[in-house]
Amino acid sequence: MIQKLSRKFVDGLPKAELHVHIEGTLEAEMEFAIAKRNQIDIGAKTPADIDRNYGVGLPEFLKAYYKGMQVLRTKQDFYDLTAAFLRKEADSNVKHLELFFDPQAHTSRGIPFATVIEGIHEAIVDAASLDIDVQLIMCFLREYSQESAMQTLKEAEPYHKKGWILGVGLDSDEHHNPPLKFMLVFAKARDQGYYLTMHCDLHQVDTVDHIKQALEIITVDRLDHGLNIVENADLMTFLIDQKIGITACPMAYFYTRKVMEQKAINKLFNNGALISFNSDDPAYKGSNYINDVYYKFAQKSDWNEKELIRIAQNSFKTSWISQQEKESYLAQIDEYISNKR
Ligand code: HPA
Ligand code: ZN
Repeated sequence: MIQKLSRKFVDGLPKAELHVHIEGTLEAEMEFAIAKRNQIDIGAKTPADIDRNYGVGLPEFLKAYYKGMQVLRTKQDFYDLTAAFLRKEADSNVKHLELFFDPQAHTSRGIPFATVIEGIHEAIVDAASLDIDVQLIMCFLREYSQESAMQTLKEAEPYHKKGWILGVGLDSDEHHNPPLKFMLVFAKARDQGYYLTMHCDLHQVDTVDHIKQALEIITVDRLDHGLNIVENADLMTFLIDQKIGITACPMAYFYTRKVMEQKAINKLFNNGALISFNSDDPAYKGSNYINDVYYKFAQKSDWNEKELIRIAQNSFKTSWISQQEKESYLAQIDEYISNKR
């Protein structure tokens, strides 16, 4: 008899997370507490007054996301946010984390770049005892200009040189903001030694074109969301042949649109794409953290241990670590499975 998938198996499975925004981990309770500490009136008498039911589209989500993060002002705020999330990730058996942050969402409000990166970095340093390896990916906001992204890249340079930032990404409002708009800044980032990734959100205008630009012109090392690639056989073959990782966030899709995009995810998975599962903005997507994502998707899709093991393996295979580190994490998965038998 095939054993039913247990939540305990999911929770204990060693995994990497590659697509989660630190600002998207700001739970209403913390937003409320930080607002109080910084004496900011956010119009809420209790955390329950903070509304996270913002609607279905990307612009609606982004409005809530940028509103929530207004309370983050000091290094301590960024430290507390990151420290709380790293504890949660370590408790979820995330062994390797590549964490997004959105500096322009803060510098545009007058918060210095140094405040943001130093608060986040200090929390990473202080998490050294937690058995989780953490790297940062700096995202540019795509509704801002390429010049603004260039300026941000310049501000990041001293921190990149110290090894604090591993990659760059592109997020926020995709409408009329294609990858090509940022061609020069991504080329420069590549020259400086950053890994490259990009969001191609689901069902956006010209989304398949955007995926094509990201893969063929920007030559990203990984693709975030990008599930509409299943509509173009050549691009999908390219992704698979080149072993380019693709980060899916099923509960993020489900929270707003009531679908986990199972069809596209299964098509990629069954054709051997290196697809991983991630939480994206858990505090804004029904507080579905990484193990909720693994478990709920598997339940909905009749997946069992075998499939989730492959997802976890993919997460390490497509992370930006050395081959030796990959092998060591994959061995941790093997050990976990053999101890279960
Ligand atoms: N898409 C675009 N921008 C974002 C996202 C996302 O999923 N999360 C945070 N910023
Ligand atoms: Zn995202």
